[in-house]
Order: sequence, then structure tokens, then C-alpha cells
Amino acid sequence: MNVNEIRELKGKRKITMLTAYDYQIARILEDAEIDLILVGDSLGMVFQGNPDTKKVTMAAMEYHTRAVAQGAKNSLIVSDMPIHSYDTPQEALANAQQLLQAGAHAVKIEGNQPEVITVLLKNNIPVMGHVGLLPQFAEKYKVQGKTPKQADQIWRDALNLEKIGVFSMVLECIPEWLARKITHDVKIPTIGIGAGKHCDGQVLVITEVLGLVGNQNLPKFVKRFANLDKTIRDAIIEFMDEVRTGKYPDKQHTYH
Ligand code: KIV
Repeated sequence: MNVNEIRELKGKRKITMLTAYDYQIARILEDAEIDLILVGDSLGMVFQGNPDTKKVTMAAMEYHTRAVAQGAKNSLIVSDMPIHSYDTPQEALANAQQLLQAGAHAVKIEGNQPEVITVLLKNNIPVMGHVGLLPQFAEKYKVQGKTPKQADQIWRDALNLEKIGVFSMVLECIPEWLARKITHDVKIPTIGIGAGKHCDGQVLVITEVLGLVGNQNLPKFVKRFANLDKTIRDAIIEFMDEVRTGKYPDKQHTYH
């Protein structure tokens, strides 16, 4: 897959994207033939344990992009530009180039940032847009676009991003009707998270998909497709039990 092939999937079949932050998960995502891998700045929350994405640095994004690229050498990797990495178009260009050197093929930028995105595109760096809930700027994570004024602004931002030239865009936490309208009105694929079923594709955070989440309250749109919390805990308890009872290591796992 390259960004043009992703663009061409609109109207043909749904696009799938999941986040990855490390080599092993990236390897499995590639093996499963996911369309896109996102090295999301959600790593600030689900990998580093912070309450939001506001402390994620370029160094962290580069580190995780490198690890993901090692595990998924043939996949299309999009890396998030973290907060303050695109304060000026010049900084954005230097930072996006670093993410590409680390193994990304495109970058994602939150919000309607025409100057920054234009500079990246002029330098042949594909950009994925992101409208609706923008975690880097939001005080509170909640559904966006509930008032007509807010909805109109999100719709305008989406149309503007398409005009500037992003190859696709994430629609985060907006009502289904608005995501449907944007998806209808733009020619590039929309990839929804908490935006209902009418988007051209769906993205979720991998730890939430896998049920590696502890007992925190998850947003309504999250579906757990596995329960890794339990699987991992059970394996650890079995390991401790076997060590304590002398069952492990047995002959089969010992050099003679
Ligand atoms: O950082 C991230 O994981 C994201 C997705 C939620 C779209 O931006």
C-alpha cells in the first residue's frame, strides 16, 4: 500500500488502521495485512501512562516509529506529529523529515493547519488530516460537533484539508450524521474513531482493541476484541506457580 492506493480505496472497500508503538505488535499487524499502521501520540497515554498526549516529544515519536518500522517493513506507516512539533512550518518540515527517516511514510497532523501542511506537501511528505476531537488541544475528551456552529466548523475544516491536499483524514468523536456528511462531501477517505459506521475506514488504539487496559473507563466507541489483561495475568501467575513449586524449569527446558 502507498498513499495513492489508500486514496483509491474510497468507495471500494473499508480501510483498516490500528496503532502500534513497538516491533512485536507492528510485526503482527503486518502479518494480518492491516491497511495502515499509525504510530499515534496516544502512546503518551497507553504506553507512557500519562493522562493525555500533551507531553509526547519528538524523541518519543522517533523512537517508537523506528521500532514499528523494524517490525513492519512492508506496511504503510503514518506517524503523529506530536504537540509543538509543528509550531512553525520550518519546525514542522524538519520534524516530519525526522519521522520519515525513522521509517514513517506519512505524518498525521491535528486540526486545520494550512501553512504547515502546505509546506510538508510541497516537500513531498504525505499528510493525513485529523478533525473533530483534537486531543493535543482539547481540555476534555468529549464528542465534538454537537452544536450546529461546531459541526459547521468541523465540516469546513475537513473540506479545507481536502483542498490543501491531505491524502485522507481521521474523524474523531463526532456524531454519525456529521461523519456521514463529511465522508460524502470529500473525495479522500475518512477514517473514523468514535464517528460511526459511514466513514471510509476505522481506526482504534491497539491496547484497547486487545483489552490491555486495566479497569479504566473506556469511551463508548471502543470495542475490545480480546482480553490480554487476563491472558497476560494468567500466564504470569502460572509462571510464578511453576517456579515456586519447582515444576519449571523441567528437563525439557534445561541444557544437559
Ligand atoms: O494518537 C492516536 O492514536 C490517534 C488515533 C486515536 C486516531 O490519533
